[in-house]
Amino acid sequence: MSLPKIRLITLDPRKQKADLLVLPVYAGELGSKKKRRELLDRTAKAFRGQLEALAKAEKFTGKNGEVLELPTQGKLPVTRLRLVGLGRSGQKSSRRLRVAVAGALRVARSRDTRTVIVAIPEDQQTAMGVRGAAEGAVLGAYAFDRYLSPGKDKRGLVPVREVALAGNPKDEAQKAAAALGFAIAEATCMARDLVNEPAGEMTPLELADRAKALAAAHGLKYRHLNAAQIQKENMGMFWGVARGSDIEPRLIVLEYQPKQKTEDKGIALVGKGVTFDSGGYDLKGPAFMLDMKMDMGGAAAVISVMRAVAEIAPPFPVVAYAGACENLVSGHAYKPGDVLKSRKGKTVEINNTDAEGRLVLGDVLDYACSHGHKTVIDVATLTGAAMVALGPYTVGLLSNDDALASSLKEASKAAGEDFWRMPLNPALREQLKSSIADLRNTGERFGGCITAALFLENFVGEGVAWAHLDIAGPAYATKPKGVDPKGGTGASVRTLAQLILDRMSAS
Ligand code: BES
Ligand code: MN
Ligand code: ZN
Repeated sequence: MSLPKIRLITLDPRKQKADLLVLPVYAGELGSKKKRRELLDRTAKAFRGQLEALAKAEKFTGKNGEVLELPTQGKLPVTRLRLVGLGRSGQKSSRRLRVAVAGALRVARSRDTRTVIVAIPEDQQTAMGVRGAAEGAVLGAYAFDRYLSPGKDKRGLVPVREVALAGNPKDEAQKAAAALGFAIAEATCMARDLVNEPAGEMTPLELADRAKALAAAHGLKYRHLNAAQIQKENMGMFWGVARGSDIEPRLIVLEYQPKQKTEDKGIALVGKGVTFDSGGYDLKGPAFMLDMKMDMGGAAAVISVMRAVAEIAPPFPVVAYAGACENLVSGHAYKPGDVLKSRKGKTVEINNTDAEGRLVLGDVLDYACSHGHKTVIDVATLTGAAMVALGPYTVGLLSNDDALASSLKEASKAAGEDFWRMPLNPALREQLKSSIADLRNTGERFGGCITAALFLENFVGEGVAWAHLDIAGPAYATKPKGVDPKGGTGASVRTLAQLILDRMSAS
């Protein structure tokens, strides 16, 4: 991961050198000398009317998503200028700024761009605006290139070295916001790296090692449970899935504790870490199996967000629990029709070995709840049905607690992620009844995202406010979109970080 350095500067477009200047423009702003903000005005003046003429010819009006990139040919000390439309200024501007900056940085990589200046619009030179720009810059600059040979073979991609955000470097709030934006984006990029790494490399052991290294670098506590300990904890569901692989499972625990002791047990984050999901004996078809290295996206999110948590340093604990294993076919694998006994004691008839995530998560949720957390959030690439219901970009949110659900929804808005709450409809519970065990692991086809969540609910402790995030769609992108590249996106990292920030300001 080679992310750019971020710094905050005061911009004089006539003086500062860089390979690229990104200049956001509101709708209609360029053509009207009265409405024009100072930075845009000074830039336009350097072009002596040509910028307005070019914009007109190229039909660039500043609508959200529009782009006009041109060489400056010596009119400014930057080599190229990129105008990015933000639409009308208003509530959504900081989200749009994040996306516009990310888009600019994404294309910059293929154009020999080492240094970039981002002119933050004057009305967005606030903590939120600066943070959005910093996040956009880092998220856009990210690429998973470790398997591309160096030099020209890297498809001409060069990492951007430095992004200067033009705001007010004397404003402490802006400086802190830039650092926070960087930390949150860096955590998101770490999750992307964990997801993008092929399953042959990103085994449960490797995932645990990366979590351990993160802990060492950021002052977090690390421990794990190995195969023997998972069995000793009576996690029959987790072990049932894990035992089909020759590679040992890991229950990874990453812990942040505040400096000041507190009785508050804080927040538990629980992640599904199936490092490869073949489906087991209910084997997936080739097209569905292809991207299943991403089935640890939930674990990637809860582990990686701890990097931001260490930076944010909330006054309450945050503990991440990730259940990491493979779902394979072998002489040791669990079979359709088997009955597994959960840590909680409930027995489960397996009517589909491809519904493995809920088995792993059920035991890990129960384990997390035994540690006294009163708020538990699990994150999982759990069901194809979530994608059928919500499309590929939206996180399915299911919760037994209205306050937790709405704070997650609010946090997602500020973070620029798309969350949608779905009902934990109790009428569907009957689908999970078995004639030979306490439960079965799948229901019928319709309502598959809800029945998966209803299954998990069985393993949530009494009185625990719990939310389940189904990230099957948004964890992995088939094409670049918004701030996300193709491949792992780091879905839900930014929202979880925001939730923790919101909880700090509430207490
Ligand atoms: N990991 C998959 C869910 C998934 C599908 C994630 C597509 C990302 C993209 C999960 O383990 C699974 O196989 N779920 C089954 C459940 C079914 C057997 C009830 C599914 O969604 O088909
Ligand atoms: Mn599966
Ligand atoms: Zn799975």
